[in-house]
Amino acid sequence: MRKPILVTGGTGTLGSVVVQRLLDAGQDVRVLSRRPGSTGTAREWATGDLRTGEGIDAATSGVDVIVHCATTLSSKDVAATERLIGAARRNGEPHLVYISIVGVDRVPLFYYRAKLEAEERVMNSGLPWTILRTTQFHDLVARTFSLQRRSPVIATLAGVKFQPIDVRDVAGRLTELATGAPAGRVPDMGGPEIRGHGDLARTYLAATGRRRPVLPIRLPGAAVAGYRRGGHLAPDQAVGRVTFAEFLAERSR
Ligand SMILES: NC(=O)c1ccc[n+]([C@@H]2O[C@H](COP(=O)([O-])OP(=O)(O)OC[C@H]3O[C@@H](n4cnc5c(N)ncnc54)[C@H](OP(=O)(O)O)[C@@H]3O)[C@@H](O)[C@H]2O)c1
Repeated sequence: MRKPILVTGGTGTLGSVVVQRLLDAGQDVRVLSRRPGSTGTAREWATGDLRTGEGIDAATSGVDVIVHCATTLSSKDVAATERLIGAARRNGEPHLVYISIVGVDRVPLFYYRAKLEAEERVMNSGLPWTILRTTQFHDLVARTFSLQRRSPVIATLAGVKFQPIDVRDVAGRLTELATGAPAGRVPDMGGPEIRGHGDLARTYLAATGRRRPVLPIRLPGAAVAGYRRGGHLAPDQAVGRVTFAEFLAERSR
């Protein structure tokens, strides 16, 4: 019998697209979520919680590959990843593919520190592993603007550029990695363009048919300084194909 690939966070922004890409590639998939869900052709559902460990042994049994896309968006990602690794080691030592962020070792943000530690846990897990770091998803950059929809101005980070990438590009690469041999730390993946936050805000306003002043704000702190230095960018790896403007145009259709 063919073994499914487990996708943690298979209901999330990235994970749901990874699940679809794997299914399109002819793979069977098992989705891990804290909520119950329905099983379909080639798609199993495993209910479990990486914070408590509940359901994780069952989720990791009978798989040769895990694509770990779940995140608690906090420092709890380290313990959650450890819990996943522990269960994987008890259940056949599958290939663990982990998605991380460009610059987790350069930008001193609390979430990035947790991602870096989670990467270290993966590398020292004794499991066969692959780690891909990417730049910010288009969805995240768009959210920095949509959260301000009731504000008379759009505030942006002065002096900060982003290189947003489409989750479909990332999911395509993760599908390749999950169906290939363990590859260790693979080259970073960045979006096709590096543009100022204010410039991206103007593209967002144009795409959503709004007129607002864009207000650059210079924030203090080491994390924002890390962003200003471009620690989260991958200028030599601008391999993503879908631009921010294309992403917004498709979304508004
Ligand atoms: N966003 C970016 O710009 C970006 C850039 C580079 C890398 N990444 C990385 O890509 C990954 C996916 O990000 P995303 O934006 O797609 O995340 P997301 O949309 O916030 O999805 C988070 C997923 O994690 C699952 N989850 C949360 N807590 C869980 C728990 N305790 N146990 C089991 N599952 C849990 C959720 O599933 P349920 O709610 O169904 O349980 C959900 O599917 C993350 O590792 C992130 O660090 C993100």
